[in-house]
Amino acid sequence: MKQYRAIAEYYDAENMHHEMLRQDVPLLLGHLPQRRQSILELAVGTGRAAIPLAQAGHRIVGVDYARDMLEIARRKRDGVGIAERELSLVCADVLRLNLRKRFDWVVLLFNTFLAFQTLKDQDALLQTVVRHIKPRGKFWLDIFQPNLELLAQAESKNLDPVLFHVPELNRTVFRSTSVERDPATQIQKVMFHYRWIDDRGKEHRQRVAFALTFVFPRELQLLLERNGLTIEKCYGNYDRSKLNANSPRMIALCRRR
Ligand SMILES: C[S@@+](CC[C@H](N)C(=O)[O-])C[C@H]1O[C@@H](n2cnc3c(N)ncnc32)[C@H](O)[C@@H]1O
Repeated sequence: MKQYRAIAEYYDAENMHHEMLRQDVPLLLGHLPQRRQSILELAVGTGRAAIPLAQAGHRIVGVDYARDMLEIARRKRDGVGIAERELSLVCADVLRLNLRKRFDWVVLLFNTFLAFQTLKDQDALLQTVVRHIKPRGKFWLDIFQPNLELLAQAESKNLDPVLFHVPELNRTVFRSTSVERDPATQIQKVMFHYRWIDDRGKEHRQRVAFALTFVFPRELQLLLERNGLTIEKCYGNYDRSKLNANSPRMIALCRRR
């Protein structure tokens, strides 16, 4: 069974503090037509975005290969009374996905594109996108823009410290993050350091490591174009500002050529 690279039960609670996760779905919703759209969310995770999209009246198919994340998404979906035909959850690897169905929109959120670190995987993923979009359909991609000051540092420690509570486990956890960067390979190794204290006062520590790539604006454009996708708009943040040198995000609204 595939599992999420971190701890699935922590996911919603540990990410709640990110301002961007309160802004990404409203910005996307603001670009969707009022009439019902069919939407494929690749790497749907716990349904953080798919559930509000379905609640807004759209028909969503969410795909993820981590059963533990999908199980949480299913529980949340059922808990808010969304029917399976409004949000269906599929366990599959997005690199090899073929649902034999095309959608009005395909979306890929919260930096997930960057988890695909090689050009081969990025092309395979974008081919999955193209295979599933209707001829006049749209692709919405949201990733961070590399921060050149951070890139100049080989290593950062104690980034983004966060204390969060996980009600399902009745556990309060402290997490900090360290990152090692290699500009030559365009890979950064991210490590989450978790600490919590149980009922008996015993301290627990756990570390979870994973790698992300980073891509630059022109590289993103080339990748999209060579897979048959054209950028119509690229925002630098959730306020719809144009991408500039200091923009934290690259939010690309693309169409199929
Ligand atoms: C950062 S989470 C994003 C979840 C959700 N889209 C959101 O915005 O909250 C990344 C998700 O990508 C999934 N994932 C990574 N590689 C995948 C692959 N090859 N096929 C399917 N899912 C994948 C992970 O299991 C995880 O649930």
